[in-house]
Amino acid sequence: MAGQKTTNKTYSNYSWRDKSIYQIYPRSFHARLNKDGNGDLLGIIEKLDYLQDLGIDVIYISPIYTSPMKDNGYDVENYLEINPMFGNMQIFKRLVDNIHKRNMLIMMDFIPNHTSNQHAWFRESRASKNNPKRNWYHWHGGKTEGKKPNNWINVFDNTTGSAWTYDKKTEEYYLHSFLKEQPDLNWDNPEVVKEMHSILMLWMDRKVDAFRIDVGLYIIKHPKYPDEPLNPDYIEGQGHPNEIYIHLASKDQPRGFKKLADLGNLVGKRGGFSMQEVYVSAEERAMLYRLSEHGLSAPLDFDLILDTNWNAKEVKKVIFDYYALLKNEDIIPLPLGNHDQKRVATRLGSQEDARLAAMLQMTLDAVPIIFQGEEIGMEDVIIPPNLQHDPFADNLRDPARTPMQWDDSKNAGFTDINAQPWLPVGPHYKKRNVKNQLKDPKSMLTLYKRLLHFRKEKLLPGRPIAVDVKNDNVLAFTRNGNEGLSFLILLNFSKTKETIANDLLPAKSGSLQLSTSLSNKEDETFNFKQFSLGPKEGYIFLL
Ligand code: GLC
Repeated sequence: MAGQKTTNKTYSNYSWRDKSIYQIYPRSFHARLNKDGNGDLLGIIEKLDYLQDLGIDVIYISPIYTSPMKDNGYDVENYLEINPMFGNMQIFKRLVDNIHKRNMLIMMDFIPNHTSNQHAWFRESRASKNNPKRNWYHWHGGKTEGKKPNNWINVFDNTTGSAWTYDKKTEEYYLHSFLKEQPDLNWDNPEVVKEMHSILMLWMDRKVDAFRIDVGLYIIKHPKYPDEPLNPDYIEGQGHPNEIYIHLASKDQPRGFKKLADLGNLVGKRGGFSMQEVYVSAEERAMLYRLSEHGLSAPLDFDLILDTNWNAKEVKKVIFDYYALLKNEDIIPLPLGNHDQKRVATRLGSQEDARLAAMLQMTLDAVPIIFQGEEIGMEDVIIPPNLQHDPFADNLRDPARTPMQWDDSKNAGFTDINAQPWLPVGPHYKKRNVKNQLKDPKSMLTLYKRLLHFRKEKLLPGRPIAVDVKNDNVLAFTRNGNEGLSFLILLNFSKTKETIANDLLPAKSGSLQLSTSLSNKEDETFNFKQFSLGPKEGYIFLL
């Protein structure tokens, strides 16, 4: 089974850099297929007009392959089929056609590191030590009788849960970096590589334009499976329990980078784009770019989600240091949140901060990725223990995964009023929903829409130029626009009004295009000498 034809359009590097991406977490987006309380593909089709109107170019959908859903689809039972919870192949094709008809593109999640333990390959692999699929996974005998092969731990367990599970049938252990229901594939086996490559190509034959590559760093392990050293900086109760060891062997192997790049190059050869989920340093990400043959595969940039304190000085440093490490043409996929992290409004602490972050995200030279609900300012929802789903310790991720809030009817328009949503709808849905915000000229949704359209219609790709305004609370930079225009972006991270030394700016005055509160006078010319920035307010000026 191999991808046969190359029927996809070819997109230039430039055109991918121009795009904006919207992440759909399908189980929570919109339900139309039935009343099972789960979102589905029909629900997505119905909302394509909304997304097009918002200014989205690429629809990225978290996994929709058949799956026992132990990890919401990141445990794949069959890479070739559609999960009946979400629809079927016919509906999928309709979805793709409807996306392409609107000149939008579709991105799928690809999960190379592990399958479900229900996948036919794993069932075969388990069957006997000499099964032809045995080496498709990592099987090992104990170090000594009754002792795990090494001290590796899995990512999800709160304590130090082993990454090895003993299987009575053949009296060996198999490796799982995540749940025990997600055995890791053996990417040192060329048969696995070949099969996974052909699956990717098959989805391209099915007209998929792009991929997000899940947990790319894990695919290659150290060939000798050595124990990992304890992390001397780990303090119990702080940080993630998984950080108790330094993961020198279970992930992040240089050979893994190459394997990841091969996936991206395969897709890039056909004009498709791919982005890799790799939580690594800026330097390591820069290395990954250099392995991309077509400039069409790129590591996700999680700098604004993790490890960066939300203040102008630090944000500026992180962003501009990163640009300095890269080539000008490198495409940076830049999310503010996703299904694994706190929602941006919750993380940064307020709706105003979330507005500021959106303006930053949309005015940088990057491909913005909007996680569903960010555009209406959705916040984390506390989930009572009896309604929790996420297998990750401490129920870290359910709060960001609650149903999309479409309107003020029961179940927020997510599903039928008589259905029971799989996770509860957030408490603020009556006010904070798409229907309300579409009517409100100052809503978060209006801001997102205006920013997305501004970015698309006015900005030219090209790195921003930082402006030093001698004020640590203000981040300032310029961007080039169409027709020789130049824009100045000013972002005030503080809770107080701020002024700037106007002689440091590239112009004396500017005409206001957009501000985060949407309450300032647009198109009016402001003299920067008399101008002060409102608390937590961002501005785009035409110079
Ligand atoms: C990725 C996904 C996450 C999943 C994990 C294991 O990090 O984003 O949701 O649980 O991979 O597949």
